[in-house]
Amino acid sequence: MAMIVRMGKWGRQTGWTVLVALCMWGQSMHTLAASVRIRFSHVVASQTPKGLAVERFKTTLEQRSQGRITVDIHPSAQLYNDREEMQALRLGAVEMLAPSLSKFGRMGFPEFEIFDLPFLFDSQDDVRRLTQGRLGQRLLERLGRQQMVGLGYLDNGFKHMSGRKPLLWPGDYAGVRMRVQSSLVIAAQMQALGAVPVVLDFSETRRALAAGVVDGTENPVSNFWTQGMADVQSDLTLSQHAYLGYAVVVGQPFWDSLAEADRQLIRQALNEALSYGNSIAAAENERALAALRASAKTRIHQLSPAQREALRQATAPAYGALARRIGSEWVEAAQQAAHKR
Ligand code: LMR
Repeated sequence: MAMIVRMGKWGRQTGWTVLVALCMWGQSMHTLAASVRIRFSHVVASQTPKGLAVERFKTTLEQRSQGRITVDIHPSAQLYNDREEMQALRLGAVEMLAPSLSKFGRMGFPEFEIFDLPFLFDSQDDVRRLTQGRLGQRLLERLGRQQMVGLGYLDNGFKHMSGRKPLLWPGDYAGVRMRVQSSLVIAAQMQALGAVPVVLDFSETRRALAAGVVDGTENPVSNFWTQGMADVQSDLTLSQHAYLGYAVVVGQPFWDSLAEADRQLIRQALNEALSYGNSIAAAENERALAALRASAKTRIHQLSPAQREALRQATAPAYGALARRIGSEWVEAAQQAAHKR
């Protein structure tokens, strides 16, 4: 301070600038942790679009930080199942997750259930218009209300219906107990078909199908195949009726504890991993379908245009039900973003 006074007005300003810059430099040096550990928990197998993208994130980040930042991946619900993992993030027991978009509704973000609307998207491009646009950004920003930072979106792909019999026409679903994720839109979709939706964690699904607790389910083929559902489901209908994707989230207190330089490193490695995951997701599902066909364990059905249209019409009430819950502007914005209106 004495030095600044001696330097006069010009010098005083320059001195302050230097002082502030030194403080900021000192602070960032101070907060750049010697080591950072990220525990990343998820519920699917490693050989899936999500599993592969998370592994890419680990490799890139560990390389770029020269091992200073490490990522411990816990796949296949080894640490936490669907219900537990959100709580674990809040408590700081893990740092990162990539839950399916369908699972945010239960956490107090019902707007995320727009992604579950049946027949909303025809292609990944439709999905991309929503996730990369203003609506997608707005959804991620909402997560801050519950101490989460939404870092981006990741595809799995389109879901198909499976069961113990061919599910072709809406009438085939009458009384069929279908395992669903914890999304009221998916429950409404199943109810509209006359099925009985049963919410179960992903990690419990195969066992529940094997035990006959539920009769069928819906998932992209990569999840169906890597969970061994071919052993417990005789029929898979390639209905492509709705989308399954993820939001990658990090706990806010952990995020705030990082130096800005580390946050940038993480964001960059993750963006690259998400681009990679999105680029391989369709191929991973194709690969799983080829393996499923080769196994000849499950009969695979295509829907005729008339069957698909009947399914679309039968599930349409899910739109009105969601609009009544969250407001029609969200549903209309989703339809516009997906270029449906
Ligand atoms: C499911 O529960 O069916 C999926 O969300 C699992 C996943 O993470 O892909």
